[in-house]
Amino acid sequence: MEPIDGIMIDKRVESVFAEVLAEFRDWKVKYSKHLLRPLSIGKRVPSIPTSSDSSNIDGDSDTEQRLVQQVTVTSYSEDGTPASTSTISLQVIRAEVLEPHEPYESCAPISRNVFKGDDDDRMAFIPFADDATFDHVDHTLCYSSLAWQEDYDPDLEVISLEAAYRLHTVHHLPYEDIDSTGVLPFKLFSSPRKPGLFTLSRRRDLLIWKGTTIPHSYEFPSSFPSPNNLRRRLERINALFCPSLNCIEPLCTVHVEFNPMPPPRKPTIRLSELLNRVERPCEAGCFLQIGAVDLPPQWSEDDISSLKTILDIEPDMVPCDHAELCLKPCHEVLYYRKLLYPDPDELQIEYPNEEIKGKPSSLEFRDLETSFCANSQIQQGHFKELEVKKSKWGLGVFLLEPAKLGDLIVEYVGELIYEETFDSRGEVAGHRGRSYVFGLNEALSLDSSYMGNPSRFVDHVGTSSASGETQCNCRALVRLVNGEHRIGIFAVKNMEAGTEVLIDYGSAFFTR
Ligand SMILES: C[S@@+](CC[C@H](N)C(=O)[O-])C[C@H]1O[C@@H](n2cnc3c(N)ncnc32)[C@H](O)[C@@H]1O
Ligand SMILES: [Zn+2]
Ligand SMILES: [Zn+2]
Repeated sequence: MEPIDGIMIDKRVESVFAEVLAEFRDWKVKYSKHLLRPLSIGKRVPSIPTSSDSSNIDGDSDTEQRLVQQVTVTSYSEDGTPASTSTISLQVIRAEVLEPHEPYESCAPISRNVFKGDDDDRMAFIPFADDATFDHVDHTLCYSSLAWQEDYDPDLEVISLEAAYRLHTVHHLPYEDIDSTGVLPFKLFSSPRKPGLFTLSRRRDLLIWKGTTIPHSYEFPSSFPSPNNLRRRLERINALFCPSLNCIEPLCTVHVEFNPMPPPRKPTIRLSELLNRVERPCEAGCFLQIGAVDLPPQWSEDDISSLKTILDIEPDMVPCDHAELCLKPCHEVLYYRKLLYPDPDELQIEYPNEEIKGKPSSLEFRDLETSFCANSQIQQGHFKELEVKKSKWGLGVFLLEPAKLGDLIVEYVGELIYEETFDSRGEVAGHRGRSYVFGLNEALSLDSSYMGNPSRFVDHVGTSSASGETQCNCRALVRLVNGEHRIGIFAVKNMEAGTEVLIDYGSAFFTR
């Protein structure tokens, strides 16, 4: 097939997509009919027994545990009219009546707060849909649209993959070109934080349909950077780490900003000075042994780009050390280093002291140290052994070991949410009669309705009307830990194992 470009590529992607779409629809109609047919012919449908059917269900003899119940079964003919009836016997086993569990909602376990911000503006489902006492209409006003009304068809994934495969193998179009037309309903390659169709297809069991020409063992190109591309690999790994200097954890759930690569650093030591530091050859290929070479060493573009990436990050290393990182002889590294920085001794050198002046990084680290001491209990995460079980008010938290005054019992963790989501979730929580939200600071609340740890079950106790004193044994305190507000539940008295952990929610809680 002839190479094509521009508008022609768009047209070809459109026509192949339309061709696959038509084939798929044709197949789907036939396949659905094929699946439904056995369900409609001559199948037997048991009818719900009436009291006259179950003459021996109330038996009071020794057959109590093994009752037999008669059930009428009706067969239907192809046109839907009943054809025949028969009676079968079913054995009934009487089970002990179980008490219902205390009401609860599903909650994902987490060990650290998760930044959520606001819930999706598309309403995922209608809460309490069968409960007339909940104002559904008012609640939908919290959202801008209904998620299930979106035009998303999972079949389009297999159709798009098939179209991409045909365009690539039959029409010889590179996948990148197909993707950049934007004609297919999905992006094929991933972008930061948004997986593309190729990545998604690896995570799913795709529908197998008759028209597909993609071989079972075929692998679509990966969005992962090639192992030879050091810069892209570093960017990817770097992005996993939190950019907050107080945190720097991988896959941090609190500071969700993207972590960019640091800008290239300039050398602070002249090359001649660096070379003077090398006292003995690092290996047979050391620049000290070989000296200047006439022929340029044979390096691939990836090799050169890797050296450039390493120099951008750490320019003040001797070539002997760079050689180890590049897996190349040291004199070759020096050759390319001089090529990348043609006149190294003329480079604009930035001296370290000037660079640091006026930058806040050292201050932030001082903060880190002091807050670490003050809030080390939360930071270190040494919690008491706890048990969640039935309490006076649903479920509660009980100590499995003693605690002393001042001890951290547990950190209250949840989703960090803004005011708007606090309000929309509040309507649901209010109706349900259970709320799990703590005000954290002016902007954020901490909600453990859907994500949390056992602390979400800590119940409230107020002041005694007789003594006027609070009866709680613990207090929730907001602590600034490394620049982040976190809530610790601390003991305000000595407690024995088995004691229920109780805090005072404060006067506003039950009036909301
Ligand atoms: C943070 S949750 C505590 C766990 C809750 N007991 C449960 O079963 O999930 C707060 C909710 O517990 C209930 N609760 C806790 N202490 C209470 C109390 N002293 N009186 C009435 N209800 C209480 C209320 O339903 C409140 O909204
Ligand atoms: Zn972080
Ligand atoms: Zn060397």
